[in-house]
Amino acid sequence: MSYDIAADIQRLKKEKNAVILAHYYEDGDIQDIADYVGDSFYLAKMGQQVQQDTILLAGVVFMAESVKILNPTKTVLVPDMEASCSLVKGAPYDQYLAWRRQHPDGIAVTYINSSAEVKSISDVIITSSNAQQIVESIPKDRKILFGPDQHLGRWLMKKLNREFVLWPGACEVHVLFNARKLHELIAQHPDAVVIAHPECDESVLQYASVAGSTSRLLEEVQKNPAKKFIVATETGIFHQMQKLRPDVTLIQAPVLDAGCSCNNCPYMKMNNMEKIKHALETFQPQVGLDEALRLKAKVSLDRMMDITSGKPVSWPAEFTV
Ligand code: 13P
Ligand code: SF4
Repeated sequence: MSYDIAADIQRLKKEKNAVILAHYYEDGDIQDIADYVGDSFYLAKMGQQVQQDTILLAGVVFMAESVKILNPTKTVLVPDMEASCSLVKGAPYDQYLAWRRQHPDGIAVTYINSSAEVKSISDVIITSSNAQQIVESIPKDRKILFGPDQHLGRWLMKKLNREFVLWPGACEVHVLFNARKLHELIAQHPDAVVIAHPECDESVLQYASVAGSTSRLLEEVQKNPAKKFIVATETGIFHQMQKLRPDVTLIQAPVLDAGCSCNNCPYMKMNNMEKIKHALETFQPQVGLDEALRLKAKVSLDRMMDITSGKPVSWPAEFTV
């Protein structure tokens, strides 16, 4: 009989009183052994709510850090500590701090795709599924510093008719989708609905009938009666899309170099079933955060949670760090 690693992981989860949270960009086999699968906001919320002692976050490290910040008594495991994100790498703490200091009157609205250190000098965290609600809660006369994803920031500025000071970061996966090639693909498939993640460049987003978080894109595929979708986001999400709508054709949005597999996030794809099993067996690698840093980073994450649950929040008048 062939070895069933999924069964082994299920057994370990019970034995170790662990729960697995997975992002939509993980491989299908990982999504299928997870207890909860979702976008980055959903994973942060579930990380706060689950009862088990140990949380294994199959996603990228900033997602696991967010869970640890919000729920510090849990043991938080990741399959691979190297699973970073180009947005995290492109926003080093020292440079972000210098940028903030240049605009002390600004409110720092920071994408969850950031390090705990950058969160600790931010006023509020957003994800693509709650960004609009959060920015709308900031008084119109306040300056907004938005980072680290410039494309998400530009998409929001347009949507909300508001100016931000943008940090020049980008997702190395989503910026590779190519507008000219997409234009050609649409001509070949005029019946397809184009959906895109707002981390894409605006030249690509202009073709999308729906732009939104991974959960929003999934919802569109589930509810839209169309039979064909061109999808401008990471390919891992095709697994849930096809599960929900086995009757539809999903076409990957094109990148310039047709030969590459650049629609895959190299960080998300560092995770695999063997590493998950190993993490549950050994309780390594574990996310650990200095308590003073955790408490500072929690302020901005708490504001996100408060606004999205309808609680009133106040904004600092000035950045003083
Ligand atoms: P979502 O919050 O939409 O899941 O996005 C996370 C992400 O990393 C997109 O690249
Ligand atoms: Fe970061 Fe892009 Fe990967 Fe999302 S897809 S985790 S933004 S590198």
